[in-house]
Formats: sequence, structure tokens, C-alpha cells
Amino acid sequence: MSRNYNFAAGPAMLPDSVLVRAQKEMLDWNNTGCSIMEIGHRTKAFENLLNNLQDKLRNMMNIPANYKILFLSGGGQGHFSFIPMNLCGKNKNVDYIVTGSWSERAVKYAKRYANVNVVTIASLSAIPDTSTWKFTPDAAYVYYCPNETIGGMQVHDLPQTNGVPLVADFTSSILSDEIDVSQYGVIFASAQKNLGISGITLVIIRDDLLDQAQECTPEIFNYKLQVENNSLLNTTPVSAVYMIDLMVDWVNEQGGVAKVAEANRRKVKKLYDCIDNSNGFYGNPVELKYRSLINVPFTFKDEDLLKIFLEDAKEVGLTYLNGHKSVGGARASLYNAMPEEGVNKLVSFMQDFAKKHAG
Ligand SMILES: Cc1ncc(COP(=O)(O)O)c(C=O)c1O
Repeated sequence: MSRNYNFAAGPAMLPDSVLVRAQKEMLDWNNTGCSIMEIGHRTKAFENLLNNLQDKLRNMMNIPANYKILFLSGGGQGHFSFIPMNLCGKNKNVDYIVTGSWSERAVKYAKRYANVNVVTIASLSAIPDTSTWKFTPDAAYVYYCPNETIGGMQVHDLPQTNGVPLVADFTSSILSDEIDVSQYGVIFASAQKNLGISGITLVIIRDDLLDQAQECTPEIFNYKLQVENNSLLNTTPVSAVYMIDLMVDWVNEQGGVAKVAEANRRKVKKLYDCIDNSNGFYGNPVELKYRSLINVPFTFKDEDLLKIFLEDAKEVGLTYLNGHKSVGGARASLYNAMPEEGVNKLVSFMQDFAKKHAG
């Protein structure tokens, strides 16, 4: 068997042990005599899995009792619309912090359902100082994306919202580090990076925000209705929920989120050191204090080298290192499942490549 180190931004690498467990359980999951893909969402067996998973996540992330946990479809982008639909029934004024492509897109989608005020807009390298941010005093919520997957920019300090509920798109950063859930109104994360496979979105919502949906909100994306139905209003993506369960078990096996975060910091430091010590051969446009600890875009002094770099990397089992099509260059995504050996191999490949092509 030959497994590559897959640096894709998502769907992304999964731990070998998770895939092996899924394989083992494929023909007979949990003594049902069926695979998980053949299990009904209304069976007792699945309901147990769903309820246990909620308990495990609550423990792992210290989710307070007044927060509800949902598993919904629609992906991250679906929830760009479902957020204003669910939260603006009483007040349509909302604030958005724009730090990159995903929060920019969230603004575009929200404009259909809400009056959007843009609090600040980041450049490709930095976020304007918070003293220049312009909030609406009575906003229904303040929205931000803690980690911008495409531009590789991360907001490391929690935005101060003066009591206005904070909504966060944690799609590319959920479980990558510890967070204080009680500081948020809503957290959502599409699963295909740190939580498993595509097709499902985790939503964690404070229960006092559940009664504010607009008329236009479709039933299956109405957070309150889904809470009342334990995410089972319609056919939940059963196997995607199962994969989240396996990933949560895996994080626990690693020693929990704090341990995984420690490993993540070690991994990403090696990669930034490699870029910063390359005498300009590689570059990263983001100012140090805003750099993402998860998605690392990098450029080449000689842009023509990108194609050769990607081809040579693939040859040695380092795959999907291309940057997002909107920005070009290369990008390495170091989600929880990327082992440190994968980063070591990438760094040593990059050093050799630079030596060979520095001219
Ligand atoms: C931060 C962030 N938000 C939202 C999305 C969109 O998620 P989806 O493709 O599930 O709609 C992505 C996808 O990569 C993302 O990285």
C-alpha cells in the first residue's frame, strides 16, 4: 500500500487508523449486520451514535449546556445563507468582518437576507487595526471567519463585540486548537477538513438565538426546528455523521484538542521556518501575526517553477500542493490528520528543490 501525504485544503487527509476502522466496520457496523451506509437515520443504532457523538463533542470542546449541537447538510456555503435566515427575523442589521475570500462570500450571500455592514476588510497581508473597525451598535450578530483557508490568514484574537452574538465559520479550524465556546453565539463548520468527510456541517448554537428565524427559512435549515428534531427532520447524511464520530474518537486517542494543537504548532513552525529561511526563494504574503497555523500559501521567486515543483512533489508522494485557483502559487494545508512526518518530508523536499533551482 502506498499512501501519499495529501496537503489538499479539503476534502482533506484522514488518519490511516480512522480509514482502517471504517474499513473494518464496513460490512457489519455495530453488530447490525449492515454497513453504516445502509443504516436508517431513524434507527435506534444511529440515534445512539448521534446522541453519544453530541456528548463526546460537548466534553471535548467544553460546550456549555445552553448550547445545542446540530448536524445539518448544506455545507459551509449553505450556512452563509442559513445564518442570516435564522438570526434576522427580528433585526436585519448585521456586521461582517472580512478577512479573505470566505468571509467576503458570506457577505455576498447574507445581503439577500439582511442589511450587511462591513466592519473592516483585510488586505492580502494584514487586518486593519481594531481601533478602525466600525460596528453597528444594535446588530443581530457579528460574523467572522477565524481561519481563511484560501489566503492563509487567521484571526488569533477573539473579536470584541460588546455583547452582540458572535457567529464564526470554523470550517477550516474546528478542533485545530482549543476555543472558548461560551464566547460565541453560533459556530459552524463544514466537516471535510478536521471533522471527516463532506456532506455535513456541524452547528453549535446558543439556545436563546433559536427563536429568530425569518419566514423564508426552509424547514430543514431552520435551526430551531432541527433542534426540536435532534437533526433528524429529514434524512441526515448518516455516514458523514459516523465519520465525525470516528474523527472525534481519534482526537481523543491523540490526547484531546490541546495535544493536537501542540502538534499543529510544531508542524506549521517547521514549514514557515523553511519559507522564511529560503533567502526569498519561497514567500508568504501574510504578516507574521496574522499567519494561519493551518493553511500555508506560498509563492516562488520565479513563478515558472510552480509547475515543476508540483510535478516533482507528486512524484515523491506529496500531493495537492497547488494554491487555490483564485490566488495561484502553492499551498500546504496542515490539518489535524497530517502527520509530522508528512511536514518533515515536505520541508526537506522544499529545501532540496530550492537548492537545485536557486540558480
Ligand atoms: C473557511 C471556509 N468556509 C466555508 C467553506 C465552504 O464550505 P463548503 O464547500 O462545505 O460549502 C470553506 C471551504 O473550503 C472554507 O474553507
